[in-house]
Amino acid sequence: MIRILLLSSMFTYVYGANLIMMQAIWRHGDRAPGDLPYPKDRYNETYWPRGWDQLTNKGIWQSVELGIWLRQRYGATVLPIFNKDKVFILSSDSERAIETAQGVSAGLFPPVDDRVWESSYLRYWQPTPIQTAYGTIDALLRPTKVDCPAYDLANEQEESPIAAQINSEYGQMFKWLQNTTGMESIDFWNINDLYDIQRELDHNMPQPSWLNQVFNGTTIMDHIRELKRITRNQEFNSPTKAKFRGGYLVNEFLKNMEDFKANKTEKNVMMYSSHDGTLSALLYALNVSNDQLVPYTATVLFELYDDDTVQLFYKNTTGTAYPLAIPGCLQICPYSNFLALLENVRVRSLDALYSLCGTYNSSTSSRAVATTTTPHS
Ligand SMILES: *[C@@H]1O[C@H](CO)[C@@H](O)[C@H](O)[C@H]1NC(C)=O
Ligand SMILES: *[C@@H]1O[C@H](CO)[C@@H](O)[C@H](O)[C@H]1NC(C)=O
Ligand SMILES: *[C@@H]1O[C@H](CO)[C@@H](O)[C@H](O)[C@H]1NC(C)=O
Ligand SMILES: *[C@@H]1O[C@H](CO)[C@@H](O)[C@H](O)[C@H]1NC(C)=O
Ligand SMILES: *[C@@H]1O[C@H](CO)[C@@H](O)[C@H](O)[C@H]1NC(C)=O
Ligand SMILES: *[C@@H]1O[C@H](CO)[C@@H](O)[C@H](O)[C@H]1NC(C)=O
Ligand SMILES: *[C@@H]1O[C@H](CO)[C@@H](O)[C@H](O)[C@H]1NC(C)=O
Repeated sequence: MIRILLLSSMFTYVYGANLIMMQAIWRHGDRAPGDLPYPKDRYNETYWPRGWDQLTNKGIWQSVELGIWLRQRYGATVLPIFNKDKVFILSSDSERAIETAQGVSAGLFPPVDDRVWESSYLRYWQPTPIQTAYGTIDALLRPTKVDCPAYDLANEQEESPIAAQINSEYGQMFKWLQNTTGMESIDFWNINDLYDIQRELDHNMPQPSWLNQVFNGTTIMDHIRELKRITRNQEFNSPTKAKFRGGYLVNEFLKNMEDFKANKTEKNVMMYSSHDGTLSALLYALNVSNDQLVPYTATVLFELYDDDTVQLFYKNTTGTAYPLAIPGCLQICPYSNFLALLENVRVRSLDALYSLCGTYNSSTSSRAVATTTTPHS
C-alpha cells in the first residue's frame, strides 16, 4: 500500500512502507454521571436509562463510529476480516469499557460472506471475543485504581502548592457554590464532582441559570471545566507521575511490537478499551500530551511499518488522527529509536510496578488490592 503524506503545503512525498501492525487504545463512549452531581441537582438516576456510570445511547453510537473509522483506516491492510489469530481485544473490567469494545467491534467487523449468520436485522453484527479481567486489579487499563503509595507521595508533593493556590483564588466561588449546590464543602479535592454537570449538558438537559453566572469574568461552568482540566492533568503531568500511571502500559505496546517482530506472536492488531485517566497517563508517559481533557472514544494509535519505523497518532475528534512525535524523534520514528527513547519510562512487569510503588511483598509476591478512590472517567 502506498500512503501519501502531506508534510506541508510546500511538498508531498510518497511513503512507500507497508503497515504490518496496529495497536489502539481508546476511552469508552459517552456515559452517565457516577452519582447525583450535587444534592440539589434535579436529574436523578431515572434520567439515565442504563443507570449511573453506564454507557448512554450516544456512547454506543460513538463506539460503533470508532469501529467504522478503524475499518476505513485499516480494512485494506491489517484488518481485512476478523481473524482470531491476529486480533486481540482487551477491556478494563468496567461495564462501560466492555460495552464500548463491543460497539467498536460491531462497527469494525460486520460479518461478510460465509460469516453472515442471520439475514435480518442482526446481519450487520457478529460476536467477537473481548478479553477482560474481572475482579482483578487492572494495572494496565485502569492504572488510576492501583494502590501506589510512592505515586501518592509524589502526587501530593506536586499537588499541594497548586491545591492551596486554587483554594485561595477560588475560595469565594467555592463558598457560593456550596450554598447553590447543597454540597457540604467544596475545594480543590472535590470540585470535580460538579464536572458531571457536563454530562447533563452533553445530553441537552436544561440547567439552572446560576451555571451561566459570571465569576471574575468567566461563567461558573467554564470555571468548572477548567478546574477539571487542571486537577485531572495534575495526576499525570510530570515524568515521575506519568511513569507510575502510564509506564506499564507503555511497556505493553513496546513489548507487543517486540514479540511480533521476533515472530513470537502472529497478533498484529492489539486493541484496548479503557478510561480517560488511562489515556492521559499514556500521553504524558509518551510526553506528547496536549494538556487537554481526553474526549469520549478518543484513541491513541501505534503503527508499525515494514521499513522498521513507528508512527503515533491521537484521534481525539471525529475523523482526525493527529500525528504525534515523541521528544527526540520525528513523527516517522525508527523502531529502535522509539524503543530507546521510551526505555526510561517503561515499567517492564507487574512486579516491577509494585516494587516501584512500594507495595511489593517479597514473601508472597502478592499484590496489594486496589483501594484508592482516585476517580476515573
Ligand atoms: C427521580 O425523581 C423523580 C421526580 O423527578 C421521581 O419520580 C423518581 O422516583 C426519582 N427516581 C429515583 C431513582 O430517585
Ligand atoms: C481572575 O481574573 C484575573 C484577571 O483575568 C486572573 O489573573 C485570575 O487568575 C482570575 N482568578 C480566578 C480565580 O479565576
Ligand atoms: C443561597 O442560595 C439560595 C438559592 O439556592 C439563595 O436564594 C440565597 O440567597 C443564597 N444565600 C447565600 C448566602 O448566598
Ligand atoms: C517532557 O519532556 C520535557 C523535555 O523535552 C521535560 O521537560 C518534561 O518534564 C517531560 N514531561 C513528561 C511528562 O515526561
Ligand atoms: C520472522 O519470520 C519472517 C518470515 O518467516 C522472517 O523473515 C524473519 O527473519 C523472522 N524474524 C525473526 C526475528 O526470527
Ligand atoms: C485534539 O488534539 C489536537 C492535537 O493535540 C489538539 O490540537 C486539539 O485541540 C484536540 N481537540 C480536542 C477536542 O481535544
Ligand atoms: C506479606 O505477606 C505475608 C503473608 O500474607 C503477610 O504476613 C505480611 O504481613 C505481608 N507483608 C507486608 C509488608 O504486606
